[in-house]
Amino acid sequence: MRVDIITVEPDLIKSPFENSMMKRAIEKGLAEVHFHNLREYGIGNYRQVDDYQFGGGAGMVLMIKPISECIEKLLAERDYDEIIYMTPDAKTLNQATANTLSLKENILILTGHYKGVDQRIRDKYITKEISIGDYVLTGGELAAAVLCDAVIRLIPGVLGDETSALTDSFQDNLLSPPVYTRPSEFDGMKVPDILLSGNFPKIEEWRNEQAYKRTQEIRPDLLED
Ligand code: ADE
Repeated sequence: MRVDIITVEPDLIKSPFENSMMKRAIEKGLAEVHFHNLREYGIGNYRQVDDYQFGGGAGMVLMIKPISECIEKLLAERDYDEIIYMTPDAKTLNQATANTLSLKENILILTGHYKGVDQRIRDKYITKEISIGDYVLTGGELAAAVLCDAVIRLIPGVLGDETSALTDSFQDNLLSPPVYTRPSEFDGMKVPDILLSGNFPKIEEWRNEQAYKRTQEIRPDLLED
């Protein structure tokens, strides 16, 4: 998979790709990530990328020209399966979306800043809009990093068996069951006997029950879907 990310803050977004699972995916050649600094497409000596919004109101808007030039340049080089805009005013990212995106070849991600981008960019280029939650970040960079992490770890070959994505929370719309490691007793608190029993069908059954119970308590909305 190739991911291109357009941003005004390339330094802010790079670190998650230089560590942990995304670094591993890139080193294994399973993912390729390219950052495009919007400032390089900025207008005039000050490399302007934003302007006041028509109609008045606080907050600047990212202008059309720098973004469209950057996108057109990338589109001339390859086709994209999705051109994604990270924004809080969109449907929230979930595991199903991450699963679908993990099967794509080329993804282009546009990150917003300030009040966002001129609506005409969204109308002309964007094929999918994604929020990572009902709160507003300073920019879409951290949101794009979250999206990439959720997607890239699912590319076949990135995770080893020991970290298989199939048992993650949300893969079956359930939260994960509790997990334990050594010691088997801490401060009088014991690991549930079933996990020490060696009876794997029963352990599986217990984990499913726990996952269901936890989901019912914390995220009953997941069970309604
Ligand atoms: N940009 C700012 N806030 C965001 C959010 N919650 N999700 C995606 N992009 C954003």
